[in-house]
Amino acid sequence: MADPHLVVVDDAAWLARAGADVVADVVHADGPVTIVPATGDTPVGMYAELAERHARGDLDTRDVSVVQLDEYLGLETGDRRALFGWMERTVLGPLSIDDERVVRLPTDGDVDAACAAFDRDLEARGGIDLAILGLGTNGHLGFNEPPSNAQSPTRTVELTQDTVAANARYWGSEGDVPTRAVTLGLRTLLDARRIVLLVAGASKHAIVRRALEGPVREDVPASFVREARGSVTVLVDRAAWEGE
Ligand code: GLP
Repeated sequence: MADPHLVVVDDAAWLARAGADVVADVVHADGPVTIVPATGDTPVGMYAELAERHARGDLDTRDVSVVQLDEYLGLETGDRRALFGWMERTVLGPLSIDDERVVRLPTDGDVDAACAAFDRDLEARGGIDLAILGLGTNGHLGFNEPPSNAQSPTRTVELTQDTVAANARYWGSEGDVPTRAVTLGLRTLLDARRIVLLVAGASKHAIVRRALEGPVREDVPASFVREARGSVTVLVDRAAWEGE
């Protein structure tokens, strides 16, 4: 059982550097590594820091593969809201990770059947070395909305009203936020050899405290990081931790 290593940092720049150090540690390990990078605002500074290190020649990403964490359903090709596009712009492009090293979540046809195959394939290729996660204001990880149990598989989900409201800031208004999505399951995420959870801003104060100090249960999916198989680092800025 994981005992999360909690690091409270002063500000966004510190969060970016501390997160990038964890990622660099994993990337510099010998051999190929598989990383799951969350989208969302919180890790953007960290990805920029990683991109700078990569551009300077300090971060070789040739052995890095990426598995998508979550995606909206029902979007047309090229829709500006696709999380894959976000990942391309903030992670894959800046870190020179080519298409053949990227595993996308299924979004077409019988998505639930494809998700079951996805989990089997991911396990067969050795699972995840590092999951970079953000925290939803409702306690979700990826789109594992409450309630989600630790065994939840990769699957389609209906987004909760909380998530739709929180994600409206990315796309304009609540009406612009798709309500169905696909997410890597908690089972796969909690099985990662390493997890780094990034949390920033006073709006996350109540939920980060519940996730790390409250009971471990399905109505706060992120609380299950305390039972993850691998090592867990939680990087929290002071605003989120103290609620100022
Ligand atoms: C979104 C995404 C998550 C993300 C989380 C936090 O809904 N599905 O993958 O980590 O919510 O986002 P942010 O970092 O913008 O607060």
